[in-house]
Amino acid sequence: MKSAAVGQEYVLRKDNRNLNHIPGAYGLPYLGFMIPLLKDPYAVLKAHYDRYGAVSRSRLTGQNMVWALGPEYNRELVMDPQQLYSARMGYDAPLGDFFSGGLLVRDFAEHKFHRRIMQSAFKTSSMQHYIHSVNTLASRTTREWPSLDGFHFYPQIKSLLLEIGARVFVGVGLESDIEHLNKAFLDMMAGTLAIIRKDWPGLGLTYRRGMEGRRALERYFEGLVPAKRNDDGMDMMSHFSRERSEDGELYPDKVVADHLIFLLLAAHDTTTSALTMGSYYLARHPEWQDRLRAEVLSLGDTLNYEDMGQNAPLLEQTFHEILRMHPPVPQMMRRTIRETELGGYRVPADSMVAISPIFCHRMPEYWKEPHSFDPDRFGPERQEHKQHPYLWVPFGGGAHKCIGLHFADMLFKCVLAEMLRNFRFSLPAGYADPPAIMHFPFAKLMDDLPLRLERLSHG
Ligand code: HEM
Repeated sequence: MKSAAVGQEYVLRKDNRNLNHIPGAYGLPYLGFMIPLLKDPYAVLKAHYDRYGAVSRSRLTGQNMVWALGPEYNRELVMDPQQLYSARMGYDAPLGDFFSGGLLVRDFAEHKFHRRIMQSAFKTSSMQHYIHSVNTLASRTTREWPSLDGFHFYPQIKSLLLEIGARVFVGVGLESDIEHLNKAFLDMMAGTLAIIRKDWPGLGLTYRRGMEGRRALERYFEGLVPAKRNDDGMDMMSHFSRERSEDGELYPDKVVADHLIFLLLAAHDTTTSALTMGSYYLARHPEWQDRLRAEVLSLGDTLNYEDMGQNAPLLEQTFHEILRMHPPVPQMMRRTIRETELGGYRVPADSMVAISPIFCHRMPEYWKEPHSFDPDRFGPERQEHKQHPYLWVPFGGGAHKCIGLHFADMLFKCVLAEMLRNFRFSLPAGYADPPAIMHFPFAKLMDDLPLRLERLSHG
C-alpha cells in the first residue's frame, strides 16, 4: 500500500496509458518493444526517432510511455525547474517494492531532506579513506586470478565488487556475513525481474525469494545501526547512522537500512557493467591496453585519490568512452505530475516519460563514428561531449544526479589499474565482433566474457 504525504496525491494515481494522440507505436501487446530493445536498444530508438521524431509514444513490458530523445529533453527532465516530473513514480513499477525508501524513489523536498543523510559519505575525505580498501581488495583478488584461457570475467568481477561493496558500504569485520549478504542481495535483484509478482509463501516464486532477501537485509542492517552510531567507523553505513537532521535528530534505523539497500543496487550492477564492457574493449583494442598500462605504471605502485583527475587522462577518457557506448543506466524514467507539453505534443498528467543516454551517446549529429570505441574523442583536442551540456549523461543530472559518481570513477580506475598491472588480457581467437550483448537491465556480454589472461612480471 502506497503512502502519500500532503501534496503527494499524485503517487496514489494510476499511470495514464492513453498516449494515442502522440505519434509512435506501442509494438507488441504487453511486451511492446522490450525484446528488440534488449538486443539493440540504439537501433530501436533510432528507428522510432527517424520515423516519428524526437518525441514519440512507445511501450515496454506493459508500460506505455513517451520517449523524449536528444540532449534538450535530457536537460528538461533532469533539471525540471517547474517540478513537473516525479522520479518516484517513474521508478515505482520496477523498483518500488524492493527498493522502497531509496533516494531515487523520493521526490522534491523529501528527496532533498534524505539526500542530506548520504552526503557526508561521499565527501572527498571519505573517498580518500575508501580508496585504500578498494586498492587492497582489488590488488589481492586480481593477483590470485590464474593465467588462463577462458577466464569468465563477469562472475569474477561481480564477486570482487560485492566484496568491495560489503567492506566499503557496511564496514570491515563482516567476513562471515558477506556470503549471506550477497545471497540476499542477488535474490532481490532476481526478484525485480520476476514476471509473477506475488509475495506468496510455499511456491518457490522468484519474487517471494527476492522479498525474503529484502527482509533479511532490512533486519541485518537495522540490527547494525545502534552499534554504528557509537563507533567511529568510516564505512558508508557508519556515516549514515551518525548523520543528523537539521533539528539535530538521528535518522530512524529503518531509514538508514532503506538507504543502504538502495545504495547496493545503485552501485553494484552499474560498476560491474562498466568494468566488464571496459575489459572487453581493452581486450579488443590492445593498443589502448598498452597506452593505459604505461600510464598506470608511471603513477607508481597504486593509484591515489589525486590520480583520479588530470594525472591519469587516458584512464579518464577510457571511463568516459565506456559509459558513452554502454551507459549502465540506459534510460531514465519520470512520470508527469501535471499535464505538460513535449516537442509540441500534450503529455497528460501521470504519463511515463523516458530519456535515453544510450541514444544521445550515439547520435551521429554529435559523435564521430559513434559506434566505434575511441577514447580520444574525450581528449583535449576533440572534446566531442562538450557540444551540449546534456549530451553525455551517464550519471544523469539535476537533483537526482548520481551521488556515487566519484566512487564509481575511483572503483573503475583502481580495479582496471590492478588488472593492467597484473595481466595482458585478450579475446579468444575468432571472438564475434560485435559480440552478443544483453543491454538491459545493465549491459553485459552474454557469454560472461571468456578472457585470455597472461600474467605480467610487474604485477
Ligand atoms: C558507472 C556507475 C554508475 C552509473 C552509470 C550510475 C548512474 C546513475 C544515474 C543515471 C542516476 C540518476 C537516475 C535518474 O535520475 O533517473 C544515478 C543515481 C544514483 N546513484 Fe548512481 N551510477 C553509478 C554508480 C553508483 C555508485 C557506485 C553509487 C553509490 C556508491 C551510486 C549511487 C546512486 C544513488 C544513491 C542515486 C540516486 C540519487 C538521487 O536520487 O538523488 N551510483 N546513478
